Amino acid sequence: MEYSAYYVEENEGSYSASISKLDLKKPQEGFVQIKVSHSSLNYKDALSASGNKGVTRNYPFVPGIDAVGKITDGNSSEFTDGEDVIVTGYDMGMNTPGGFGEFINVPAGWVVKKPVNLNNVDAMSIGTAGLTAAASVLKINESSKNSDLPVLVSGATGGVGSIAVMLISMLGKEVSALTGKSSSVDFLKSIGASNIIMRDNYLETDTKALEKASFSSAIDTVGGKILSKMLPQIAPHGVVACCGNVAGIEVNTTVFPFILRGLTLAGIDSAESPIEFKTSIWNKFADEWKLDLSSITKIVTKENLQEEIDLILKGGQQGRVVLEHGE
Ligand SMILES: NC(=O)c1ccc[n+]([C@@H]2O[C@H](COP(=O)([O-])OP(=O)(O)OC[C@H]3O[C@@H](n4cnc5c(N)ncnc54)[C@H](OP(=O)(O)O)[C@@H]3O)[C@@H](O)[C@H]2O)c1
Repeated sequence: MEYSAYYVEENEGSYSASISKLDLKKPQEGFVQIKVSHSSLNYKDALSASGNKGVTRNYPFVPGIDAVGKITDGNSSEFTDGEDVIVTGYDMGMNTPGGFGEFINVPAGWVVKKPVNLNNVDAMSIGTAGLTAAASVLKINESSKNSDLPVLVSGATGGVGSIAVMLISMLGKEVSALTGKSSSVDFLKSIGASNIIMRDNYLETDTKALEKASFSSAIDTVGGKILSKMLPQIAPHGVVACCGNVAGIEVNTTVFPFILRGLTLAGIDSAESPIEFKTSIWNKFADEWKLDLSSITKIVTKENLQEEIDLILKGGQQGRVVLEHGE
C-alpha cells in the first residue's frame, strides 16, 4: 500500500520538497501505525524541510513533529485499532518520519490518547507550540504570585507566543506582547494582550545590569538580544521561561538579576518531556485550559505547505498553521 507525503530530498547540498507516494511499512515490535488526519507547522518543521542538519541528519525525509489520527495497527498491548491519538515531539519529524505524511510508525511510548472533547483540528492548533506555551506558563506560575506587573511574551504573534498570550490572559494576568510586526497590533489585542511593545523600540536603549522591574515574569520564544534585554527587567523572584532561539542562541547577562532579585531562568524542552507530562497538558487543554484557537489558525493542504514554510522561516507567520491530509 502507498501513502502520500510532503517529502524532502537532498541533491548536492540543496533541498527540495514534493508531494510523493511512499510505501507503507508494517510497524516493528513496540511501534504503532497511525493514519494521520492532521499535523501542524512549527519552526522546527521548517528547519527540517529546508535541510537543517541540526534537526534532520539524513534525507530524503518526511518532516512533521506533530500528528493526530487513528491507530491502524496497534501492535502493542496499550492501543487498539481505531483509537484516536496524538503524537508530538521526541524524535518524530527529526529523524523518524513525521506528520507531513498520511501515515506514521512510532514507538507506542510516544503516543497520547486524544481527550474526547478535543477535535483533531483543535489538537493540532495546539500541537507542540501549545505544549511549549503551557509548559512555560506552568513554570512562571510557580512564582511571582504577588506581583501585579504584566507578564512579557516575546515572539508574541508566533505559534508558541500567541498561545502563551491567550493562556496567560485567560488565567487572569495582564500580558505585554513583544513583536516585530506593527501590522499585528489588533491581532495581539484580540487574543488578550493589553500592551504591545515593538521590537525595534525595545532594543533601542543599551541593556543595563539591572533595570526598572517592569514585568512579573516572561516567556521568551526568541533568545539572543531580546532574552538578554528582558532578564534585568523582571521583578523580584520572577521566572523567565526560555524556549526558543529564532533571534539567536547567545545570552549576554550578569549575575545581578539572579543574586539581587532571585530571578529564575527556566529552560523548556517540550519535545523530550515525559509522556505523563504531555498527557497532563493535553487533559488541561481539553478542560480548564480549553481555548478557542480558530481565530489564530490557518488550515492548509500539503500542496500549500511550502509557502507557509517559507513564511515561518522569515519570521512572518501569525498564529498557527494546521496541515489537513484529507481522505
Ligand atoms: N523549547 C521547546 O520545547 C520548543 C518547542 C517549540 C518551539 N520552540 C522554539 O520556539 C521558537 C518559536 O517557535 P514557533 O514554532 O512559535 O515559531 P514561529 O511561529 O515562527 O514564531 C516565532 C516568532 O518569533 C518572532 N521572530 C521571528 N524572527 C525573529 C527575530 N529575528 N528576532 C526576534 N523575533 C523574531 C516572530 O514573532 P513577532 O513578529 O511577533 O516578534 C515570529 O512569529 C523557535 O525557536 C522554536 O524552535 C521550542
